[in-house]
Amino acid sequence: MKRWKKIAIVLLVLCIVAALAGWLCIRNGFSARAEPSALEVFVATRARALAIPSADRDRANPVANSAEAVNEGMEHFADHCAICHGNNGKGDTAFGKNLYPKAPDLRLTTTQDKNDGELYYTIYNGVRLTGMPAFGAPDQSDAKLTWRLVRFIRHLPELTAAEQKHMEALNPRSPSEVREEQEEDDFLRGDAPQNGEKENQH
Ligand code: HEC
Repeated sequence: MKRWKKIAIVLLVLCIVAALAGWLCIRNGFSARAEPSALEVFVATRARALAIPSADRDRANPVANSAEAVNEGMEHFADHCAICHGNNGKGDTAFGKNLYPKAPDLRLTTTQDKNDGELYYTIYNGVRLTGMPAFGAPDQSDAKLTWRLVRFIRHLPELTAAEQKHMEALNPRSPSEVREEQEEDDFLRGDAPQNGEKENQH
């Protein structure tokens, strides 16, 4: 057989394999509800892991492990991350569990076994084609804050009930929730607005 014919056959076989793999990946459509096939999960997670340069993956956390670093990371997490990941990192939130890929349980070994550098890279750059946003400022001026978040993620498996309560107070609130809380406070202090008082009289 001529050389070009052999090459053409190899290329054809490769095309068929690629088309088959593609079909296996997308036959369930692209809904965020449907569980993807094992092949799709494998391809996507491998591609994601390979996308992190090894120099970034191997970076050590320059922020020392201290109660203050963990606390600052915790307060920032409550404000920016808990909406998807939950205060306890489980990801069991309306946003977190209805995305695909779902927000992972950050307390599990799938996350905890990753290097600090890998977690930093993920928070700084986000994960393309997923719900995970890129949080880092382009000039890395907030690098310390991100490394503190990594310290807090390491602390998640030992989060106490008191810490979780502290976080709940810092979770973002909608304008109507803020208004309701303000009205409740005013009412308890006895200086409710006029129309509120009228409503409460009958
Ligand atoms: C809008 C929802 C959303 C918000 C807000 C969010 N995340 Fe995520 N996060 C995700 C999703 C979805 C993934 C899974 C991405 C994937 O499958 O690769 C993820 C993945 C991660 C991972 C990688 C875990 C692993 O095992 O690879 C880390 C670390 C992380 N998030 C930290 C954070 C931090 C810290 C914040 C706040 C600064 C944050 N996330 C805010 C949705 C979110």
